Amino acid sequence: MYKERELVNEILDLKKQRRAIILAHNYQREEVQDIADFVGDSLELSRTASKIDCDVIVFCGVNFMAESAYILSPAKTVLLPEPGACCPMADMIQVDAPRKLWPNFPGYTEQPKLLYPIGFTLRDIKAQYPGVPVVCYVNTTAEVKAASDICCTSANVVKVVESLPGDTVICVPDRNLSMWAQKNTGKKVIAWDGFCHVHDRVTREDALKAKEKYPDALLMAHPECRLEVLEVADHVTSTSGMLRFAKSSPNKEFIVGTETGIMHRLQKENPEKTFHPLRRDMICPNMKKTTLKSVHAALRDMTSVVTVPEEIRVRAKISLDRMLEL
Ligand code: 13P
Ligand code: SF4
Repeated sequence: MYKERELVNEILDLKKQRRAIILAHNYQREEVQDIADFVGDSLELSRTASKIDCDVIVFCGVNFMAESAYILSPAKTVLLPEPGACCPMADMIQVDAPRKLWPNFPGYTEQPKLLYPIGFTLRDIKAQYPGVPVVCYVNTTAEVKAASDICCTSANVVKVVESLPGDTVICVPDRNLSMWAQKNTGKKVIAWDGFCHVHDRVTREDALKAKEKYPDALLMAHPECRLEVLEVADHVTSTSGMLRFAKSSPNKEFIVGTETGIMHRLQKENPEKTFHPLRRDMICPNMKKTTLKSVHAALRDMTSVVTVPEEIRVRAKISLDRMLEL
């Protein structure tokens, strides 16, 4: 305990020396969230990274988030304390490389209900549907963002899809988010077959069982969950959307359909309310890689610097800027 306090004090000192800001995603470990200057969802963190006045951003999250921070603020040094913290879903689509086969991926289940066919690379799918705008989820590599027309997050996917001309859009890589967008807009969404292994493992039966167990609770679900889960949820929203909903709702009890790291803020900000995880195993191993020790080492040694080649950064920034302008 004493050691942890010492580590925290050193992090705070280093932060001052480096003129650094710590950004943490809502799924981070409790102790990492507690030392962050700002904790939020992907959209809020991108906005903060683009506006904040500092020399160094320590990004406690996964690699696509740190990349986005660099894309928006190349003059700052962006550190990802754990360079191996990745998002498997973001790696499920690439511009040129063929799509990998997922059946061996933990949590994979066939979703025969995909309404539109998938290509093998982003380039293939664009060639198959010339002129159709491409929306990429923020959980993508900088290369994919650079090859897309506009970016979206779970907080704004419906708004982004609605803002585009025509009645069809390509949406990559999350099949669940894409189907949610299709259901909530008048558009035809050509979906990719990517998925988040943490959210996609939840079934409608899990959701119904939880609702039966906690009949007074409202079910909040992240749009990375399957449509069959979203259809029985009381509120579908991003991680920070859940924080806002729980705070403003007169209800006292909630079932939380997303990664369990968010329980820390939910409970801290609403001590009088009760939160139940939809499934206790909704844990993202990559989000949990970052520790106080790795934050301390990154700041001390200025290691794990994230950059993006300038030619890709400039094009990826257009996709992110279009989203932020909305
Ligand atoms: P949010 O943008 O809702 O925070 O989600 C990010 C993410 O990675 C969800 O798995
Ligand atoms: Fe990626 Fe899912 Fe982890 Fe989010 S929770 S970072 S989408 S694997």
